[in-house]
Amino acid sequence: VSGDDAFDLVIIGGGPGGYTSAVRAGQLGFKTAIIEKRGTLGGTCLNVGCIPSKALLHASELYEEAQHGLGKFGVKVSGVELDLDAMMAHKSKVVGELTKGVEFLMKKNKVTYIVGTGRFTGPETIEVSLNAGGTRTIKAARTLIATGSDVSTLPGIKIDEKTVVSSTGAIALPKVPKSLIVIGGGVIGLELGSVWSRLGSKVTVIEFLDRITPNMDGEVSKNFQRLLAKQGFEFLLSTKVTGVTPTKKGATVTFEPVAGGEAKSLEADVVLVSVGRRAYTDGLNLAAAGVEAGPRGFITVDSHYRTNVPHIYAVGDVIGGLMLAHKAEEEGVAAVEIMAGQHGHVNYDAIPGVIYTMPEVANVGRTEEELTAAGIAYKTGKFPFTANARAKANAQTEGFVKIIADATTDRILGAHIIGADAGNMIAEIATAIEFGGAAEDLARTPHAHPTEMEAVREAALGVDGRIRQM
Ligand code: FAD
Ligand code: NAI
Repeated sequence: VSGDDAFDLVIIGGGPGGYTSAVRAGQLGFKTAIIEKRGTLGGTCLNVGCIPSKALLHASELYEEAQHGLGKFGVKVSGVELDLDAMMAHKSKVVGELTKGVEFLMKKNKVTYIVGTGRFTGPETIEVSLNAGGTRTIKAARTLIATGSDVSTLPGIKIDEKTVVSSTGAIALPKVPKSLIVIGGGVIGLELGSVWSRLGSKVTVIEFLDRITPNMDGEVSKNFQRLLAKQGFEFLLSTKVTGVTPTKKGATVTFEPVAGGEAKSLEADVVLVSVGRRAYTDGLNLAAAGVEAGPRGFITVDSHYRTNVPHIYAVGDVIGGLMLAHKAEEEGVAAVEIMAGQHGHVNYDAIPGVIYTMPEVANVGRTEEELTAAGIAYKTGKFPFTANARAKANAQTEGFVKIIADATTDRILGAHIIGADAGNMIAEIATAIEFGGAAEDLARTPHAHPTEMEAVREAALGVDGRIRQM
């Protein structure tokens, strides 16, 4: 390996975990290379995940509003039409611009971008099968594995990305399906189900457990399901899918109650499989480097993101935990700072999660269920958007803010919001948690009037029974 092919740090995978680490490594003076096989940077998130799904969520919400939501404001519209090709073109344009932007970031931070598939041939050597043809062998003083995740499916179900689709097919359907069956009532199923429901599909969600979004605060999840049902979603809970068979029109899904009982079937034009994602290390040849993975394929790391091989690190979806872009980014930055002898750290209590439906659902920290199970005494404060002036003016009064604080110290332990702008609102509470804040700190922070953010202050006041606006 020549000097040009020897690096202080080689990053495998150009997603949020990988590219953010590359930027930080460049800033810290590491000679860095990033290997990505997709042909564009940005990983799952930019190419087929966060960004295209949000472009479609926003566009479909505008279509829905133009059709049904403007009359109450005295805005009359007629002849509203869907141009799905134009909607998809908007999505693709956004993705194209952002992935190019990441490529520019690599140049700016003097990171070598190698377009190809990386594979360990030893603990310090990586062979890249170049997309352009041929191979390039590089030497890595340190390696960061950020190869992300891929869709999981169920036994016997074959995803063809046309009729039986994963999220990747579901963000690129050529026409609006009349009916869509979603297997798995988690984040992907409910976000992409919302997109197609707004564009005219009849959406049925089949969920194995007795509630949707099972890890979410129970009260929020119940309200969320009610609001989605009002929008036309049908839910089959505690239901086990036993098979998906292609038909002339689409596919037939067979299912039965988890507790046992009569088997049934339902046909739909398109079936979306969204039952979770798995760690992706296919073809990486971890064995050649001596890197160990855990039982479900997730790479095992210590609190410094080090694998069992000390100079090989891993971050993001491939190490498990929350599968979120910003979690991968924070881990990547922390790992690189640790490599540089600094004190990189991720505060997992302050990582927000957002479901970008309408209303949005956002959370940070612990749920009531988790605190009860852990035997931690807590108080809650809750404020509904029906009592918030700005939400009323905007006719977006669905949902509430709930803040959970330690019963003794008043320190904020968690927050759960269901509401039109919940995804932005949760940031304030995440900041408060990062600063070790108490509910009283939020309660005494002046909030502009009239804003939806006042509902956060009111919920914080509610922790101590001092709500002012209701
Ligand atoms: P990835 O983004 O998966 O990147 C890994 C990259 O590594 C891939 O590009 C892959 O091609 C490459 N790679 C793998 N193996 C090799 C190899 N051997 N050689 C070279 N390259 C390789 N998260 C959010 O926070 N907010 C959202 O709104 C959100 N929406 C989502 C919507 C959908 C439909 C999906 C599927 C996911 C969504 N996520 C969202 C999750 C988010 O995309 C992931 O958490 C995030 O992308 C993880 O980043 P990562 O860097 O760990 O992995
Ligand atoms: P998920 O884990 O959110 O939901 C999967 C759902 O499928 C769960 O409710 C689970 O109980 C159910 N399920 C599992 N097996 C089943 C079966 N056999 N039959 C019926 N239901 C079954 O996973 P999802 O939606 O696939 O998303 C994957 C990851 O992508 C998530 O972990 C999420 O973090 C990330 N993501 C994040 C987004 C965001 O932050 N807004 C958006 C989309 C994805």
